[in-house]
Amino acid sequence: MDAKIVVIPGDYIGPEIIAECIKVLQAVGERFGHTFHFEEALAGGAAYDAYGVHLPESTLEACRSADAVLKGPFGGPPSELNHPKWALVEREAILGLRGKLNLYANLRSVVMRPALLDFSPVRRERVEGVNILMVRELVSGIYFGPKTREVVDGEEQAIDTELYRASEIRRVARLAFDLARTRRRKVTLVGKSNVLVSSVLWREVVADVAEGYPDVELDYMHVDNASMQLIINPRQFDVLLTTNMFGDILSDEAGAIVGSIGVMPSASLTDGRFGLYEPIHGSAPDIAGRNLANPIGQILSGAELLRYSLGLEEEANAVEEAVDAVLDAGYRTADLTAGRSDVKQVGTREMGDLIVEHLLR
Ligand code: IPM
Ligand code: MG
Repeated sequence: MDAKIVVIPGDYIGPEIIAECIKVLQAVGERFGHTFHFEEALAGGAAYDAYGVHLPESTLEACRSADAVLKGPFGGPPSELNHPKWALVEREAILGLRGKLNLYANLRSVVMRPALLDFSPVRRERVEGVNILMVRELVSGIYFGPKTREVVDGEEQAIDTELYRASEIRRVARLAFDLARTRRRKVTLVGKSNVLVSSVLWREVVADVAEGYPDVELDYMHVDNASMQLIINPRQFDVLLTTNMFGDILSDEAGAIVGSIGVMPSASLTDGRFGLYEPIHGSAPDIAGRNLANPIGQILSGAELLRYSLGLEEEANAVEEAVDAVLDAGYRTADLTAGRSDVKQVGTREMGDLIVEHLLR
């Protein structure tokens, strides 16, 4: 197949890990006979430097004409966070891409990779075999609801609004149930319906959607309990469906439970096949340009691109198997070597090379 992929390299370690992901996708093309056309576009800090805005219209246009977008992390160092280059980068570039491309479903695959069991802060017998698909609503809720900041009765006041329309819940719920059918057929809806009316609406709409999926079990959990259950019994979850805000928080927790957010991919989807693929970690200014960054979260995001936007399941599995094989062989980037003498530390590029080598073997 022929596919057009827009590449947004991102800031700091972004270009380094994106380069490794492209190498891996090219190897997939070579092995399976596909041609991927990569077109670079800028957003985030890099776009601010080049155009003075975080999300140029030309980048959105490029994305709209592509089959998929591969994106690196955005953001600057803590010491520069008040600089206009970074101050609004999240809201303008990250939320901008999600909102303007209507990427309403964010999939975060939480897999306990056997080679990383020692990195989990949770006991092995509880995390072994964990495989959760988090489905996070991504373009509504408190991230996008009305916001105000004003002085009332002489005192500063700020309001963020958790606003959900039934249709916004329904479309992401349908996707969660469709995906559950390809897995263990269980959806756990996470909310806070003992306090929030928006969560009551979620429960009602999701229960209604569930009627169309009699073969899929629907369970409900309050978010405080879910955050605890993720630690004490993470294997009970198959598909975890939740709001934008709760999904943000729970996905970092889940990433820590499986050993490292450095290896966690994400897929942000809309209707049809188009999607945007990025790792869930940040741009790590402290290690940029030193061949130290772990490219695996980015490379696994590339695997998700193959799976969801291009429908290339076998190819996606091949990338994931190659990553596991290289980790199993003991190769690790610096973030995953801590205190271990039995592992072979490699750089960003070498990690990419090893994965490519395995794919072409
Ligand atoms: C994520 C990130 C973003 C979010 C930030 C950078 C705006 O934490 O993708 O999880 O909150 O969604
Ligand atoms: Mg987050």
